[in-house]
Amino acid sequence: MAPTRCPPPPLLLLLLLFAAAATVAEDASGLPLPSPTPWPERFHAVLFTNLTNYSSASTGPPLRITDLYYDWPRRRNLNLVRHQLSADPLYDVEWNNGTAFYFDSSTCRVVRFPVGVLPPWWLSGGGAEYAGRAVSGGIDCHVWGKAGLIVYYEEAATGRPVRWDFLDDDGIKQYVIRFEPGVALEDAQWQAPAHCFPPDDDDDAEQGKGNDDVASSSKEEVGVAMLEAARLLRKLAGAAATF
Ligand SMILES: *[C@@H]1O[C@H](CO)[C@@H](O)[C@H](O)[C@H]1NC(C)=O
Ligand SMILES: *[C@@H]1O[C@H](CO)[C@@H](O)[C@H](O)[C@H]1NC(C)=O
Ligand SMILES: *[C@@H]1O[C@H](CO)[C@@H](O)[C@H](O)[C@H]1NC(C)=O
Repeated sequence: MAPTRCPPPPLLLLLLLFAAAATVAEDASGLPLPSPTPWPERFHAVLFTNLTNYSSASTGPPLRITDLYYDWPRRRNLNLVRHQLSADPLYDVEWNNGTAFYFDSSTCRVVRFPVGVLPPWWLSGGGAEYAGRAVSGGIDCHVWGKAGLIVYYEEAATGRPVRWDFLDDDGIKQYVIRFEPGVALEDAQWQAPAHCFPPDDDDDAEQGKGNDDVASSSKEEVGVAMLEAARLLRKLAGAAATF
């Protein structure tokens, strides 16, 4: 029941102590441990995805190509997922307010998730445990784990992400095929399609439109939006090839 002698250290001091602890982390031979490179504030990545623990209970086919558009300044994140041999890509648009829209050309699901978009320092800012060097896809990497959730590989020479494995039941492994810092998607490409926002009955009555009209017009819009996204992706891929 003795009264506390010292007030708790101020937050800033705690942060400085943390930073100091991070910089003095050493390996067995006394060399400082490498620390992860923060993500660029904006990038486009093409990921090859394998659900390595695929079972029929899983939600979709195990092999995908994913275009990831990461946009921290605007606090948003877009995944364009193409399942193997499927003509209809799946979009996943995540906003920092915790709303995500999952949609394809005819369906849409609006989901709430508890945290916002990952910050660029989600790994470099602390909590990463260095797991040494490993070669992945022929690329010499530093490897870190975090919170028993993910194993992350970055190219030792450049700091570019190479691969990450989620330690989940599906065994999702994502391999970075292309990494383009600074590449952003136009604002219009982030807009969820009309069929994510079904009109309620009152609106229908007001506009004097039948459900068939609404359904067909939203279908058209989605078709145009997807062509636009495909065009943009080709343009970006072409531009990236000249880097
Ligand atoms: C996907 O993962 C499974 C399980 O590890 C593996 O057998 C399969 O070869 C992988 N497929 C590809 C295309 O990498
Ligand atoms: C979050 O932001 C998106 C995009 O601006 C918006 O469509 C959505 O309704 C917002 N969600 C909430 C709960 O405010
Ligand atoms: C693979 O998935 C099954 C469920 O489908 C799960 O019981 C098992 O633990 C998973 N294996 C791994 C290594 O995650």
